Amino acid sequence: MKSQDVRKQFLDFFASKGHLIVPSAPIVLKDDPTLMFNNSGMAQFKEYFLGNGTPKSTRIADTQKCLRVSGKHNDLEDVGFDTYHHTMFEMLGNWSFGDYFKKEAITWAWELLTEVYKIPKENLYVSVFEGNPEENVPFDREAWDIWKGLIDEDRIILGNKKDNFWEMGDQGPCGPCSEIHVDIRSAEEKALVSGKSLVNNDHPQVVEIWNNVFMEFNRKADGSLEKLPAKHVDTGMGFERLCMALQGKTSNYDTDVFTPLIEKVEQITGLKYTLNEVLNNSEEQNKTNIAIRVVVDHVRAVAFAIADGQLPSNTGAGYVIRRILRRAIRYGFTFLNTKEPFINQLVAVLAKQMGEFFPEIKSQEQLVTNVIREEEASFLRTLDQGLQLLDKVIEEEKAFPSEGLGRISGTKAFELYDTFGFPIDLTALILKEKGLELDEAGFNTAMQAQKNRSRAASELSTEDWSVLIPGNVETFVGYDQSESDVKITRIRKIDSKKDGILYQIVLDNTPFYPEGGGQVGDKGTLVSANETIEIIDTKKENNLILHFTKQLPENINAGFVAKVNQDLRSLSSRNHSATHLMHQALRSILGTHVEQKGSLVNPNYLRFDFSHFAKMTETELQQVEDFVNARIQEQLQLVERRNIPFAQAVQEGAMALFGEKYGDEVRAIKFGESMELCGGIHVKNTAEIWHFKIVSEGAVAAGIRRIEAITSEAVKAHFASYENTLNEVKTALKNPQDILKAVHSMQEENAKLTKQIEALVKDKVKNLKASLIAEIQEINGVQFLAKQVDLNAEGAKDLAYELGNLGNNVFLVLATAEEEKPMLTCYVSKELVAEKNLNAGQVVRELGKFIQGGGGGQPFFATAGGKNVAGIQQALENAIEFVK
Ligand code: ALA
Repeated sequence: MKSQDVRKQFLDFFASKGHLIVPSAPIVLKDDPTLMFNNSGMAQFKEYFLGNGTPKSTRIADTQKCLRVSGKHNDLEDVGFDTYHHTMFEMLGNWSFGDYFKKEAITWAWELLTEVYKIPKENLYVSVFEGNPEENVPFDREAWDIWKGLIDEDRIILGNKKDNFWEMGDQGPCGPCSEIHVDIRSAEEKALVSGKSLVNNDHPQVVEIWNNVFMEFNRKADGSLEKLPAKHVDTGMGFERLCMALQGKTSNYDTDVFTPLIEKVEQITGLKYTLNEVLNNSEEQNKTNIAIRVVVDHVRAVAFAIADGQLPSNTGAGYVIRRILRRAIRYGFTFLNTKEPFINQLVAVLAKQMGEFFPEIKSQEQLVTNVIREEEASFLRTLDQGLQLLDKVIEEEKAFPSEGLGRISGTKAFELYDTFGFPIDLTALILKEKGLELDEAGFNTAMQAQKNRSRAASELSTEDWSVLIPGNVETFVGYDQSESDVKITRIRKIDSKKDGILYQIVLDNTPFYPEGGGQVGDKGTLVSANETIEIIDTKKENNLILHFTKQLPENINAGFVAKVNQDLRSLSSRNHSATHLMHQALRSILGTHVEQKGSLVNPNYLRFDFSHFAKMTETELQQVEDFVNARIQEQLQLVERRNIPFAQAVQEGAMALFGEKYGDEVRAIKFGESMELCGGIHVKNTAEIWHFKIVSEGAVAAGIRRIEAITSEAVKAHFASYENTLNEVKTALKNPQDILKAVHSMQEENAKLTKQIEALVKDKVKNLKASLIAEIQEINGVQFLAKQVDLNAEGAKDLAYELGNLGNNVFLVLATAEEEKPMLTCYVSKELVAEKNLNAGQVVRELGKFIQGGGGGQPFFATAGGKNVAGIQQALENAIEFVK
């Protein structure tokens, strides 16, 4: 069965059981500070389990793009070495939100596997939670009894907390689970060793395929469990493993999910990948296999993350993506001999293969390819520099062996790794080839020290919520109001190394806009009869709107008026509306390939990243400015449409962005012809923006440009500052009638004077030459002169050449101190360079020390500039040492 059909049958099956089929959420999470990437199907439904919101249906199913590369679930370092772990994988899942429970979940799972997919029952084992008296969670007898009706009792296994109690993170919804494992070994192997004994034992062909979690608890910050308001089901089946079982393969990589990618790598590298059943590969071939698995796995993770809007970068989620890609490049570089970018070529294969189900990869194929190609090229350059550096380190070690004879210090290896991104395994490999060793312990110590430093900087502890008013679902009233009467419904304390102690407050309703869609969160105050509390930021956490404050009110039960800081909000809203107009301008001027790739809108300025393949010309930038300013002048009225169906909005021309999660009902923002889906705060009329000015345009990544621009007050300040400078220039020029004319005549005057000076210096050089010839001494067969002269740098050079031309054994050191800047100029006849081993570069480097400076040049001519005029004398006195 083709993988496409495996996916389809799963979704069709659960649709037939009354489930609503929803699309996968983006792989990169935006509104959950506890999680960088979607690491399981349930992440997008987390709040429904906790009771903070209502799902569209009590039964949902989907296939979710997951990434397990950070936090509690991290498989990155295993990937490539085994045949069944991945960075990105698809998780097929079905959910019940307070609807059906264990009976239906288990029976349907069994029906799907054995009747639809027709996996032989004798290949399946199931596990049930044995219970944990310490936490008062009993043995899951209910699940055991349900399974007993479906499968031989000796195929049911008891599992402990590690295997059969699923938790998404350190805190949050959790519960006992029942896993289904499949044994895909050959009949001979099965006869030798029972499958049961191999369950949960890291056997590559006895693997878990499906986890059914019975969500009943919430793990609190103090580690204790509390019962959730209702009971839910959360299941996740590994799509790639299921394909392996259904396609009769023994490795996920031998299924049609991966073979097209592998074939492409084979074609590019000329190497061959061997199927999993081939035994006794050479060591070389094993390495090739691992590297190919790494590459074809990682390209999926990276490509889908980029398609969902996460570009590789130096921080946060972007850094994780960059590291995954670099791991693939490194394996290619080391084991597949790929010294040129090649991973980007796999994107086309991926788009062809998965584009039908995940359109984001198809429609952004070109962009994703370009971004990956650029990252590859840049990291390959780094690898190259690292190699040269390592060569130097190795040479030094060989010339001056350190105490740990034949070993490179761990600190040095760490420096290479940390500063140049040079991978440690590659360092070790190269050292080995050169007969040296790596001080691994030293490296690990340095690495740990750095980890501790960054952990200390980012540490955050979050206490549990204190709920004042239970069950309240907060309403956002900020589109219509900037003030509102509110009650506090819950409070939580957080303590971070970065910001110290802060409190998060949730209100029954709020006018505060939480950071989102690029726009920063509102600031403001909570005011009661007796006190005023500052709100310093507002952010979203899934369905909650969190108001951040440094200080809690004394009376938390009082009634408050929540007041948004209108000045700041108004500045942000002008920048936000201008961003929409600019987006429209870019698409109309550059073309409809322009798509938003990120934005930031705050009271000071706006930043907008978008796909476009060339640097924008001055004319284009001017056109964009003019376009936006024309829309401002037209005084377009905001047309806001709340709660219109997503499909209708898109049909009317609103643009949906990849990587954003939209509900069925959306909000559309229109100014004239500009229409976007947006949850942000906007001006009521474009006239409020006053004026729009671009301040910079540049590249962020391959095919992605960034514009920074300002509006309203900032534009006024910008023009005022220009005017100020202009006035200062005018004053400096003694208030001429026409400034430009005054500057031009100054430039002309300047050019004239420069010419005159050049002529004068030439004369001076001639005169000096005549007088200095007499001062040249002959020492050891060298015509030697060291002398301070009153010339500029150009003059000193001319003089040196003039004097140098007098013979073929001349050695000169001339010093100048134009405008108190000491400088040494050294000339050595070419013949002397060879015969006496005299080198002008070396001379100025050594003598340069006296004037606190440095420099260089060629063996026959070099200069050094310095800081210490007083040292000139000493430098000249020491020059003679070179000929003695
Ligand atoms: N959330 C469960 C898992 O990821 C189904 O295994």
